[in-house]
Parts: sequence; C-alpha cells; structure tokens
Amino acid sequence: MARTRRPLIAGNWKMNGLKADGMALAKAVADGVKQAGWTDREVLICPPATLVMAIADAARGTGVLVGGQDCHAKASGAHTGETSAEMLRDAGASHVIVGHSERRTDCGETDATIRAKAEAAWRAGLTPIVCIGETLVEREAGRTMAVLETQLKGSVPTGATAATLVVAYEPVWAIGTGKTPTTPEVAAAHAHIRRVLGGLLAEANGVRLLYGGSVKGANAAELLAAGDVDGALVGGASLKADEFLAIAKAA
Ligand code: 13P
Repeated sequence: MARTRRPLIAGNWKMNGLKADGMALAKAVADGVKQAGWTDREVLICPPATLVMAIADAARGTGVLVGGQDCHAKASGAHTGETSAEMLRDAGASHVIVGHSERRTDCGETDATIRAKAEAAWRAGLTPIVCIGETLVEREAGRTMAVLETQLKGSVPTGATAATLVVAYEPVWAIGTGKTPTTPEVAAAHAHIRRVLGGLLAEANGVRLLYGGSVKGANAAELLAAGDVDGALVGGASLKADEFLAIAKAA
C-alpha cells in the first residue's frame, strides 16, 4: 500500500514573500522540479494569498502545484479580509492548508472551524491539508496521542478519501525551533494517526501523512524514511530554493 502513496513535499511560505522575491523563488523551485522531471513525487508551494494567482500562472506546466495557506468556510459574503476556497481555486490553487497551529493559536481556530474549512475546500475542488500536532506541554504530559486523536476526530470531515485528504503532523514545539522528534517518535505518531483515520474513513491506508516541523535538507532523508511518513510540510526551509529542492530530492 505504501507505494501507492506518492510523496508530497509542500512548502508553507507563511507570511513571507513580496512579488519580486516570491516570483524568483517560485521560478527557481519550478526550474529545479522541471529539470528533475520527477513523476514519483509531488511538489507544492503555498505562497501568501497575494501571490497565489501569479505563481500558479507562472508554474503551470512545470509540475509544481500551488496551494493556499488558509480559506474561509463560506464561498462568498460579508467577511472582510477573508479568502474563500473558491477564490483560491479560481486563482489556480489545487490545495489549501487548514488548521495550521499558528492559526489555531493566532486566530483561535477550533477543530470544528477547521473541519468546516476542509469541507469548503472540497466544495471548491481543492484538497485540504489538515494540520494537527501537540504542544510541548501536552507532549511532556504524555498526552500526544490523545491530542492527535481528538484533533483528527474533530477536524477531518466525514466522507474523506485517499484522494481528497492530506494530513500534516506538526508538533507545535518543532515548528521553527530547529528541534524535531526522533524518527521512532515520528513513526509512532504517524502510525497512531493512520490507526485513528482507520476508524474514520475507509481509505485510511491511502491518505498521505506529512511530517512538518524544522524539516531541512540535512534531516529530510531520515524524517521521510520514518514509517507512515508520506512527505513533508516545510516552513523556513521552503524559502530557499536549494534547501527545498534538497528536501524534495530526499523524498
Ligand atoms: P518550519 O519548517 O519553519 O519549522 O515550519 C514548519 C511549518 O509550520 C510548516 O507548516
């Protein structure tokens, strides 16, 4: 079954990237992907919303996919400052990250909000990347597996299939800190996630599970080789083309 899960390497640029630098970075990534000619893995970049359309236009035909970092649950309406899944799709996106821990913390997003956003992604024809992960306090209290289970049960909508769902495990304490769980810890978390998904949907074995949190070129091969890891969600290292391509190469 593992072979049917094509690795996905996703870059989350977060709130980084003005037009000139962002376009240059996207071009460097697209050039690298095109040159590598990979058919056995997917590479996705999630720039800030302001650049989704321009990067999607520029990346067309290169093999690089483009996604949003968040979406609103509604398709349109009086929601100043928000971006709908339909708008992202219209701009050329194929995926959208939902429930990133920074949004759970900064914007108070709950599992229910995230579930509604994942459903919105489906409505618009996007694949949601649902993010889950424990805080350091939760890990130290031995609550990691329980937290992951609660987040999955609350935020993965009913009816998900292998083709319509990606889950990213991002331990909050590993994001932007240079710290990562050990390979066995990553494998244990991912095996647990797949087990919980098995109780929620029929195709749990086909759902891609990404690891995120301080992934870089130097540790990618080891983290990506952990059991049940089908790719990476990369923050800081996705802002450097060489580093991001090295991670994609390691997949
Ligand atoms: P870093 O790779 O910078 O730790 O960020 C991970 C992340 O939050 C990706 O969504």
